[in-house]
Amino acid sequence: MVLSQDAITNSPYVILNAAMTVDGKIATATGDSKISSFQDLKRVHRLRASVGGILVGVRTIIADNPSLTLRYARGKKPVRIIADSNARTPPNARVIKVDPEVKTYICVSENASSERIESLESAGAEILVCGKEQVDLSEMMRILKSKSIDRILLEGGGKLNWSMLSNGLVDEVSVALSPLVIGGERAITLADGEGVRLVKEGIKLSLKKTSRYGQDLVLFYRVSR
Ligand SMILES: NC(=O)c1ccc[n+]([C@@H]2O[C@H](COP(=O)([O-])OP(=O)(O)OC[C@H]3O[C@@H](n4cnc5c(N)ncnc54)[C@H](OP(=O)(O)O)[C@@H]3O)[C@@H](O)[C@H]2O)c1
Repeated sequence: MVLSQDAITNSPYVILNAAMTVDGKIATATGDSKISSFQDLKRVHRLRASVGGILVGVRTIIADNPSLTLRYARGKKPVRIIADSNARTPPNARVIKVDPEVKTYICVSENASSERIESLESAGAEILVCGKEQVDLSEMMRILKSKSIDRILLEGGGKLNWSMLSNGLVDEVSVALSPLVIGGERAITLADGEGVRLVKEGIKLSLKKTSRYGQDLVLFYRVSR
């Protein structure tokens, strides 16, 4: 039996999910990320219905203005969680304004200005301070777990995906591989950030299953520990 992250560190169980082109991108350099099929979108919404929270980085909020709501599946609506050290989330973002009965947690650092925090709180968001200069992801996960959020769907983008993976905070990875090549050396990939120096230092995954959703091939992995 593989021990879950939950069991090891008292952190929520985390599933990273992304829609990716064959050349490993999750968005173009301009930030366009409409990659996967409608069949896959419905799978993602069923996945959303199985978790307590959906987590994204602030650049995804700024680029896409997603509402991160549950639309193509039934179930309990997960809370929205944003890693946003400097409270840059616009107070009128859809993630706060759409479905206001569902909580939106903005995880900031001690660096975030009180004016920005106040305007986000007035807009309806709840602020969690996790870390000094940048959001400390391990602390963020402990706080979320203490709020009984036991299972989280990490929905990008590339920079946050890498930070979560490299901090050992991800348990599963599912990737919808879309039959597209979009190129672009500045396009966003599944995991950006610093990366490792050597291939052998990479984060190892083990393939659990593959399924076809329309033209997309979805690969389901467990993160090896
Ligand atoms: N195809 C897909 O499945 C998919 C899914 C999601 C997003 N996307 C695309 O991905 C793009 C955005 O990705 P991105 O890589 O630019 O940004 P991102 O991962 O969405 O957000 C990164 C930001 O999160 C904040 N953050 C806070 N704490 C962090 C930490 N400990 N480690 C890392 N980041 C932390 C940082 O901003 P601060 O320093 O200000 O805190 C950082 O710049 C968009 O174009 C979006 O469309 C695609």
